[in-house]
Amino acid sequence: MTEKPRAKAIVVVGAQWGDEGKGKVVDYLAQSFDYTARYAGGHNAGHTVIFDNHKYVLQLIPSGILRPGKKAVIGAGTVVDPAALLVEVENLRKSGIETRGRLFLSDRAHLIFPYHREMDKAAESARGAAAIGTTSRGIGPAYEDKMARRGIRVVDLLNSDGFKNKLERVIEEKNAISRATYGHPLETAGLLDEYLEIAAHIRGFVVDTCVLLNRALDNGESVLFEGAQGTMLDIDHGTYPYVTSSNATSGGVATGLGVAPTRIQGVVGVTKAYTTRVGSGPFPTEMPDLDAQAVRERGKEFGAVTGRPRRCGWLDLVVLKYAKMLNGIDSLVVTKLDVFDTQPEIKICTGYRYKGKTLGEMPPDVETLSQVEPEYKTLPGWQTPTPGIQDVQGLPKAARDYLDFISSALQVEIGMISTGPERDATIVPRGTKLAAWV
Ligand code: GDP
Ligand code: IMO
Ligand code: MG
Repeated sequence: MTEKPRAKAIVVVGAQWGDEGKGKVVDYLAQSFDYTARYAGGHNAGHTVIFDNHKYVLQLIPSGILRPGKKAVIGAGTVVDPAALLVEVENLRKSGIETRGRLFLSDRAHLIFPYHREMDKAAESARGAAAIGTTSRGIGPAYEDKMARRGIRVVDLLNSDGFKNKLERVIEEKNAISRATYGHPLETAGLLDEYLEIAAHIRGFVVDTCVLLNRALDNGESVLFEGAQGTMLDIDHGTYPYVTSSNATSGGVATGLGVAPTRIQGVVGVTKAYTTRVGSGPFPTEMPDLDAQAVRERGKEFGAVTGRPRRCGWLDLVVLKYAKMLNGIDSLVVTKLDVFDTQPEIKICTGYRYKGKTLGEMPPDVETLSQVEPEYKTLPGWQTPTPGIQDVQGLPKAARDYLDFISSALQVEIGMISTGPERDATIVPRGTKLAAWV
């Protein structure tokens, strides 16, 4: 039997705590793929793409939708707030981007309801000083219901009688919990009608996305998998409990989309030239306030979804080494290099010390991680503007040295360098694995 050549299937994953610039990277790569597909998370994500002087912030819809004619898939592993999805569809339409016929929503994805948002906020306030700093979009409570096997899925919404029964049962159960815990029932008046109204608008997008993607791959069409959040926010491998509630790492592709691991051909990890984190939790290389402020201003480090200021720190090679292992990163993209254009000296964390010893691996608990002392190497800055530079050789030597240092420490190629938020502020060095996928 002669085997057909395998179709291109590449994952883009955040290597840090999210907001690495995945949206920009996916937008760049999507021109060379037929499909872009989201496998995990929900509208807690905020992926910014800028071109032709227009800024788009995608939350649940894959960034590939911005490329004319390309198809976009929201997989079974995501959680979907259908009202928020319709707002996103409408916003795209207002910008001249039509989603009908190009956007496909999994019939198996779980739905987010307003009570999930209420639960998210209530749980956060109950945690007090130990709050996670969630996006309050109801993501965690929706995944809780999924795992507890009382979730309501997209397919349920399309069958109005069955939906009514399921929703009534869940509301009864939720109200009992809410009364016992918070002393009042949940706000659920009008919910059924609201969701049935939404169902009419959603129906046209719903398909079995697992079959859709596997058939596409069988037919030689290419798929780009768009990660949301980042490695350190992964529910199993991140800085638990200061994480999100899904598998953000590349393994999430197989479960979240029903696309087998054997079909995946490569993994692109995305990192900033430094590190940011939104929300609480340990952050070993966090900068002192004044330095963080300067980077935050230059890098415009404010959340795309919540507007919260992002915490800023130096690049952490322990995190990136861990991310390389967990995701199987073949090629690393370094974004926001331009933010260091005026930086006299750049620190880079090469290891952690804990109780006088160097730690070989990422500690499993936040108690240890919050006490580690980063070991830094200091490299000179380049202090010249990098936006507009089109090839690696054109970059200042100190910038090339910084990138080479990262590449050799991690033993991974740098497949793309981003020097600004716009599409064309992108360098793809020749001869890399990533260059072959573009
Ligand atoms: P994502 O969640 O990983 O898609 O990242 P976000 O979109 O939340 O955050 C990245 C931010 O950095 C966005 O505002 C982008 O427009 C911006 N950005 C991406 N790449 C670059 C870059 O190379 N330089 C600069 N200055 N900004 C960038
Ligand atoms: P993108 O895809 C950065 C963080 C929240 C919080 C924690 C849990 O844009 O990179 P959740 O609402 O998911 O229960 O919040 O995870 N978080 C993100 N941080 N980028 C994201 O997405 C994030 N999605 C969730 O700030 O600390
Ligand atoms: Mg983001």
